[in-house]
Amino acid sequence: MAVVPLPPSFIIITAHPESPFDREDERNQNTMADVRVPKEKEREQETEVNEAQIAVHWKEEQYYYPNPKFIGQANLSDPDVNERFGEKNFPECFREYGDLLTWDHYWHTTLDTSDAPFWKWFVGGKLNVSYNCVDRHLAKYKNKAAFIFVGELEEDPPVAITYQELYHRVNEMAALLRDFAGLKTGDRVTIHMPVVPELPITMLACARLGLIHSVVFGGFSGEACGMRAADSGSRVLITIDGYYRNGTLTDHKEKADLAVVLAEKEGQKVDKVLVWRRHRGSYASAKPMVEGRDHFVDDVLKNYAGQKVAPVSMPSEAPLFLMYTSGTTGRPKGCQHGSGGYLAYVAGTSKYIQDIHPEDVYWCMADIGWITGHSYIVYGPLALAATSILYEGVPNYPDAGRPWRVAQQLDVNIFHTSPTAIRLLRKAGPDEPKKYDYHFKHMTTVGEPIEPAVWKWYYEVVGKGEAVIVDTWWQTENGGFLCSTKPALDPMKPGSAGPPVPGIYPIIFDEHAQEVKAGSGKAGNICIRNPWPGIFQTIWGDRERFVRQYYQKYNKDPKSKDWRDWPYFAGDGAVHAADGYFRILGRVDDVINVAGHRLGTKELESVCLTVSEIAEAAVVPVADEVKGRVPEVYVSLKPGVSKAGVEKKITDAIETQIGKIARPKKVHVVPDMPKTRSGKIMRRVLSAISNHMDTGDVTTLANPDVVEQIRVMVQGDKPVVKKDVPEDLKRFGEEQ
Ligand code: PRX
Repeated sequence: MAVVPLPPSFIIITAHPESPFDREDERNQNTMADVRVPKEKEREQETEVNEAQIAVHWKEEQYYYPNPKFIGQANLSDPDVNERFGEKNFPECFREYGDLLTWDHYWHTTLDTSDAPFWKWFVGGKLNVSYNCVDRHLAKYKNKAAFIFVGELEEDPPVAITYQELYHRVNEMAALLRDFAGLKTGDRVTIHMPVVPELPITMLACARLGLIHSVVFGGFSGEACGMRAADSGSRVLITIDGYYRNGTLTDHKEKADLAVVLAEKEGQKVDKVLVWRRHRGSYASAKPMVEGRDHFVDDVLKNYAGQKVAPVSMPSEAPLFLMYTSGTTGRPKGCQHGSGGYLAYVAGTSKYIQDIHPEDVYWCMADIGWITGHSYIVYGPLALAATSILYEGVPNYPDAGRPWRVAQQLDVNIFHTSPTAIRLLRKAGPDEPKKYDYHFKHMTTVGEPIEPAVWKWYYEVVGKGEAVIVDTWWQTENGGFLCSTKPALDPMKPGSAGPPVPGIYPIIFDEHAQEVKAGSGKAGNICIRNPWPGIFQTIWGDRERFVRQYYQKYNKDPKSKDWRDWPYFAGDGAVHAADGYFRILGRVDDVINVAGHRLGTKELESVCLTVSEIAEAAVVPVADEVKGRVPEVYVSLKPGVSKAGVEKKITDAIETQIGKIARPKKVHVVPDMPKTRSGKIMRRVLSAISNHMDTGDVTTLANPDVVEQIRVMVQGDKPVVKKDVPEDLKRFGEEQ
């Protein structure tokens, strides 16, 4: 047991344990119900906690209540949902989600645990995902917009694509993929595209044929794309010539050329590159098309005009897509998501947590190249016949009023984005939302912890005090939301994701697999005790890593076929308040969450080591006002080499091999790395220096003197020790 001092600002305000909605008079006030601040709980003294336990520096906030107008129209306003999705009804409770879909063949087993922890949902069922997202809506909604595309240039008017048109375009693309590209069910296809309508059209065309798509975030480099193409075994790469970013038409096709070379180096030949064009008929890239390999999609599509492709009826557990994400080792891993379970889960959570009705105008301002975009721009909303907005650009182009002008023009009533975007817009244009006449009923935040002050700006200024907010906690691996308030049923609490969503049973464990009880004020590792339909099926090509990384830590018996023995380890620290709300504190592993996107420190370090001068590298997270966290790099050089130009070489290598998103805030070239006597680099000490924390006792290191040298290099002569450093930064590198 280590003794961790809790900061003086750590105050627990205990909310009434009953649902505040039990009291009618309190229901519609934005004031807190019966809040007590027990003096005895103001902890200023040291508290005994174990290593996984971390203090929380945001104080508990008051509740905010959804307005009656929202409650009156909500998809989920029946409090019985907790009972319905309670443990005694598990797993059959998820029939309710499965029944949102149209099955070619109904399933016989809701959850099959025979190959634990490789869960299978809705077994025996057959369906087609593109049929569920497109064809089945035609009878009722063929003239309704499925997507409204908003290009980054404001002078270009938005373009609506109806369900009927989407149906045509998906069919034609499916015909091209099958007959021109020669792809067949089960093949993998890598797609490296920005947010333009051709991206979901391509994804849905893949789904129609039972192809497994692997969308790589458009901002990633060609090499990062090639690496993923090789890992997934894709022989076809689909890309675009260019797209708008900060007002400029960027050359994107050049990345495809690099991707093909890199994939080949890794043993995967890409024999076809299909290139969409941002402006039909004109080519935005400076790179020539490679004869025999590269083809303009718009040209080839002419041969498939009007063709129809019957949707392939796929088993429920057939893989739908791969989504690569960073983990604790150097290489990103391909999270494999299935068809029936995934689609049912994103449809169910889009309906109940996003409160999407077919008549809503829904805007998830995220990138389709991340899981949020897959689940909550494309698959969830389309399964519900929603109108989903696709926005190509950055949130503040040409200025911080842009999102609110889009909202006004298209009458958006559900808005969904990340804390990073909210911080950016708040900083650049705090009063902008007031200038525009739009009204949101519902807003979402996702991807990072949101500071209460930022949450309140979102609520009061962006939401005009009218919209409910859901703070949704989940991960690439999860398919859909895990914790969030149910928007018409649970009051909101800034800084806390909320209770689990229906059918999810979280638990917080300490390092010894003991439960950390709600209301204890202590933190630990958040786990989910049960499987759910959206959980990923495996890591592509690496079953062993899947089990080791997500289930081994708290598994009770590796042979068990009982789901109760297989808690899912999420890799996040969390606290469980007395009112049942979970607050997520950030990663407990070597992953940095930059602007809501995961980067593995090991992944960055291995890129640094590709620079020939570098002997050793260590990457640590530092706080950033807008992006939450950004990486800072420490390197030491090989003997006799010059320091000149090394910083730029490292930054360039990171941008080329991963992408601009991973650009380090600073690169420090140090005389040596602080190391233990056994030679391990002490990342914890470097993180303490970068984040202005006390470096602690370093006398046991092999080279304690270097710590002060590095500190002076980074901080200058006078030590600066900051208080209130976020807990994930305090804990970084602790496990060493
Ligand atoms: O640390 C958690 C944080 O983002 C991580 C997952 O990142 P990714 O797989 O890229 O998916 C992001 C979008 C789903 C988590 O392990 N995170 C996600 N949502 C929240 C969050 N942290 C705090 N609050 C959230 N609402």
